[in-house]
Amino acid sequence: MDENLKKMISDAGQEHLLCYIDELSAEEKRVFIEQLAAVDWQQIPQLAADYVLKRPEISIPADLTPAQFFPLTPADSATAELYAAADAKGAELLRAGKVCCLTVAGGQGTRLGFDGPKGTYPIGPVTDRSLFAYFAGAIARASEKYGKTVCWYIMTSPINRAATEAFFKEKNYFGLPQESVFFFTQGTMPAFGTDGKLLLSSKGTLALSPDGHGGTLLALRKSGALDKMIADGCEYISYFQVDNPLVPVVSPRFIGLHALENSEMSAIMLSKTNSKEKLGNFCVSNGRTMIIEYSDLPDELAEKRNADGTLAFVAGSPAIHVLSRKFVEKLTSGGTLRLPWHRADKKIACLNENGELFTPSEPNGVKLESFIFDALPLAEKVMILEGDRAEVFAPTKNATGVDSAESCREMLTARNARQLKLAGVDIPYTADGKVDAVIEIDPAKVLDDEDAAALVERTGLKKVEPGERIVL
Ligand code: UD1
Repeated sequence: MDENLKKMISDAGQEHLLCYIDELSAEEKRVFIEQLAAVDWQQIPQLAADYVLKRPEISIPADLTPAQFFPLTPADSATAELYAAADAKGAELLRAGKVCCLTVAGGQGTRLGFDGPKGTYPIGPVTDRSLFAYFAGAIARASEKYGKTVCWYIMTSPINRAATEAFFKEKNYFGLPQESVFFFTQGTMPAFGTDGKLLLSSKGTLALSPDGHGGTLLALRKSGALDKMIADGCEYISYFQVDNPLVPVVSPRFIGLHALENSEMSAIMLSKTNSKEKLGNFCVSNGRTMIIEYSDLPDELAEKRNADGTLAFVAGSPAIHVLSRKFVEKLTSGGTLRLPWHRADKKIACLNENGELFTPSEPNGVKLESFIFDALPLAEKVMILEGDRAEVFAPTKNATGVDSAESCREMLTARNARQLKLAGVDIPYTADGKVDAVIEIDPAKVLDDEDAAALVERTGLKKVEPGERIVL
């Protein structure tokens, strides 16, 4: 083993990692050394001191105020005109092939309790259509509608990359041109024990974990995705999370406003349903927009009210963004990008002091992640647009209850019912106002209300019967 590397590891106080190295086969040793060489050893002691051995203090700026946003419904004629111009601009950019989609799908989805990449989770209210199939269908329809292929960038982690790609192959890329789907892998961070020592998951493997969706930005550069965007003439990245099948994969108004406002990074906001809703909060400090995560916003700010009783910090983030490609290029130009780290205490399977693998029942270590929204304060201009919750946000995070697969399916049905009703179809409702049927519309057929009206026209659908389960 290279003496330099050995020295860096021991200078970082992590010599224990090498205690089994002589037991490894030549091949195991080669792989392990490759893994060790990829670690930035110089920053390890500082990370251990700042984030592991003490709990990082969340500093909330004293001048923090709620962020301003464009309202869902224009309040005056100037705003109405701006929205009309944005709709036209967004459609023009789509027709010119200047927009791509980016899905972050590297998370481990532990809360859902699903074994496999989250995007493969069957979410269709009637069929087993997966989360990925929803996005793929909508992207195919957007490409057809605007007459230009919308490329789709999918970020995986090293853990789920192979399974994700295998799923796409098995599904024949959901009919999308294979060359329009670009997978790339996010970076990893070594996991720490609570004593600041890095953990081993075997005698020749570090316990590594995905570096958070903040890793997207650098991974776009390192993977060649940015180069592909440049070669394709793509200028705007429509960003969304793998857990939200209701998301408009490309929203002409959102993209158009981003461009007209010369924004570098834009965001959709939703009015929070309550002060404790688990959404990041849009705030401003020192003229810079930022998101303060729900777990970090102090209660007195979360509960703060305006004179009319509404929440002061009302703007929650559904994690839907548009980023200018040039902004990503600028941020990552030196091949590095340091976003702040966030600590998560986790149960991490690792070797114990006897060199045996053990799976803890309580958190035994620390994973560090960076968040993409920490790029917001780095943007010269940020644009925030209010979204209609029922149209844009149905996250699948938990097995049951709030933000679960069940609530997500209900919202998909409700959106589809609303579109059909608008097109003149008779929809049954229960006494408490819920749709009394289960409705699934193929996203490859219907991207928006206009498409829904055309579908109703084509099929001659007049009525959905109470209790019916219908796929269109
Ligand atoms: C996230 C946001 C929160 C937002 C909410 C909306 C964070 C920290 N918080 O919360 O502000 O209001 O969504 O639903 O993100 N991912 C990766 N690689 C990783 C980690 C995550 O690709 O290393 C992806 C996941 O696959 C998922 C997304 O990022 O698509 C969000 O991750 P998750 O951990 O589920 O965030 P939440 O806590 O739900």
